Amino acid sequence: MKRKSSKKGQKVCRWQSILALLMVSVMFLGACGQKDETGAADSNILTSEAEAQTEESSDGTSETTKEVDKSIYMDPSQNVETRVKALLEQMTLEEKVAQMMLPGQAALAASDVTDYGIGAALSGGGEAPATGNGPENWQGRVNELKQAALDSRLGIPLLYGVDAVHGHNNIFGTTIFPHNIALGAAADEALVEAIGEAAAEEVRATGIQWDFAPTLGNALNERWGRTYECFSEDYDLVARMGAAYIRGYQGERGTDAYLDDSHVLATAKHFIGEGYFTDGDDQGNVDMSVEDFDALLDSGVINPYTSALDEGVRIVMTMYGSVGGLKTHENKHLVQDLLKDELGFTGFVVSDYNAVQQNSGLTYKEQVTQAVNAGIDMIMDSDSWENVYNSILAAVEEGAISEERIDDAVTCILRVKFEAGLFEEKIGGETEQALMETIGCDEHRAIARQAVRESLVLLKNDKVGDVDALTALRNATDIQMSGQKAYDLGSQCGGWTISWQGMQGNITRGTTIIQGISDATKENGTGLSHDVAGELADGKDALIAVFGEVPYAEMKGDRSVDALTVSAKDKELLDNLRTALEGKDDIPKVAIIIAGRPLDIDEYFDMFDAVIMAWLPGTEGEGIADVLFGEYDFTGVLPYTWMKDAEDIYLKKDAALAGEEVDAEKVLFPIGYGLNKAGEQIVR
Ligand code: BGC
Ligand code: BGC
Repeated sequence: MKRKSSKKGQKVCRWQSILALLMVSVMFLGACGQKDETGAADSNILTSEAEAQTEESSDGTSETTKEVDKSIYMDPSQNVETRVKALLEQMTLEEKVAQMMLPGQAALAASDVTDYGIGAALSGGGEAPATGNGPENWQGRVNELKQAALDSRLGIPLLYGVDAVHGHNNIFGTTIFPHNIALGAAADEALVEAIGEAAAEEVRATGIQWDFAPTLGNALNERWGRTYECFSEDYDLVARMGAAYIRGYQGERGTDAYLDDSHVLATAKHFIGEGYFTDGDDQGNVDMSVEDFDALLDSGVINPYTSALDEGVRIVMTMYGSVGGLKTHENKHLVQDLLKDELGFTGFVVSDYNAVQQNSGLTYKEQVTQAVNAGIDMIMDSDSWENVYNSILAAVEEGAISEERIDDAVTCILRVKFEAGLFEEKIGGETEQALMETIGCDEHRAIARQAVRESLVLLKNDKVGDVDALTALRNATDIQMSGQKAYDLGSQCGGWTISWQGMQGNITRGTTIIQGISDATKENGTGLSHDVAGELADGKDALIAVFGEVPYAEMKGDRSVDALTVSAKDKELLDNLRTALEGKDDIPKVAIIIAGRPLDIDEYFDMFDAVIMAWLPGTEGEGIADVLFGEYDFTGVLPYTWMKDAEDIYLKKDAALAGEEVDAEKVLFPIGYGLNKAGEQIVR
């Protein structure tokens, strides 16, 4: 597995922005060092900072009051490594540690960023700024913190990160694309690249330069609540889709677009082995020896990461879970030895949200020491950045973390900041303002709608009378839609939308499934009514039932064998419909499933003549009507094996590990299954 990923950022010089940046630095020189009293931090840190300020360097001058020489590191005509070195040489230990932190924005005062030179900040899932959840609120907060970083002694730009995992999903009014599982069904690289590019524009409009996406796991047990975040159980499909997404987010490596100011830094996450957890437990354990795991990676499970590295991904996030009982966040073998030394990754590694707190050490200092010594360069800790700061400093003081390791970590972080053009970035600049127009724009919504169309998987389309069910549906004159999910934007979007876990209902702007169908059918004068109880009104000559899961995300989305089915409310709906449909053999009955994974719903399939898996399509629900009532055919196929019984799902991982096919008797639909309107298996 010898791969190289280093691409030294050859950025186009933007002299205007550099000049502006220099002027801003000069303007703020006077403000440097002044403390914002309202944002005063913990007294412990202030002491340690005060000490830093009086610390003597070898030439007898105080490190932090010594004049900063920006001539090399602020000069974009110098190469990245020269700039990194020129900057690193002038940094105090405290300033280096401050670059290694990734605090939650809510825990940060702008003055902390200036005073400590904090290098990065994040918004967690659903974490809107205090001022509100519109794009301008976000832009305001992000740019406030970015400006605060420029005001620090060295003026190292702040990197701001967010989970834009299917569009800029935390913010009201953005375009929400289908979740990754749906994109795995569509398996269209050009489409995924276009989605990445569109999402990057919406993210960059709010001043954010870093996206915690894509997820590169290959989930083998859909009881896991993060299954929909993964493109497929097939790691080669994951590798292709992941690389395409990264290309879209970042711009194509080797071109001027790469990491320019309308693209974002992508993150390959979560390194590595998720999807192999026993019983699909979130943050679980991959139950195998180090040797067996290495062999598993070699067999192909590493491929999504090597492809991501080839594509020029510069940030990797480690996985919450464990391998052989050892947390990845303290696994030097995987992070330092494999990812950095063997695969040659020269970007930086970030820990997952508060994950370091799960390391085996008894104190936080020990835990963070384990993480840093395993090769993790940046510590994502949402609320206790003081703790991260003091702990790393103390660990260095005690010799538990070497200064070389600190220099190495900071070198990796700064390298990425230089490569991504952060030192030349203009806060709230022209590109950023222009990109504001793209948030939720028609063009992006059209891409999302295309993605919905392409990701639908037709599982069944039996005859009703002389024609197939979908033809009969198009010929119907009075259609009934049943189920609350027919008009539930929140369920369409799933988790990681507006809030962390997602929510049902009218949570953002978009088009519901019923709205799309209504628009598509009203021209022909087709009647359309809706009910949530599952009672079929008289005279209806077609039924469309919409059912599936309610939104969830990590931690809360895991399901027991018995619970891996439709929501309680939809169960009621289906039971009522079963009764209502008695004697209605002559009308087409079509099911649309809204869910983040294959469910154990074999028992309901017989009720319907046609069944469509629509996954978590996002805000553009009319993509479903495009296929049902328009000229488009189905093109999606299952990216997962769909088992008949949830209790047999564990067989998938066993079979994968043994290099065997899963027992066909237990499979409802094999991976790759999907029909077109003519009833033929789609061939790729
Ligand atoms: C998730 C990551 C996410 C991070 C930041 C974690 O809980 O595992 O996927 O990027 O939170 O929100
Ligand atoms: C989310 C946060 C959430 C946390 C819970 C993170 O992944 O981003 O919003 O509060 O997990 O642990």
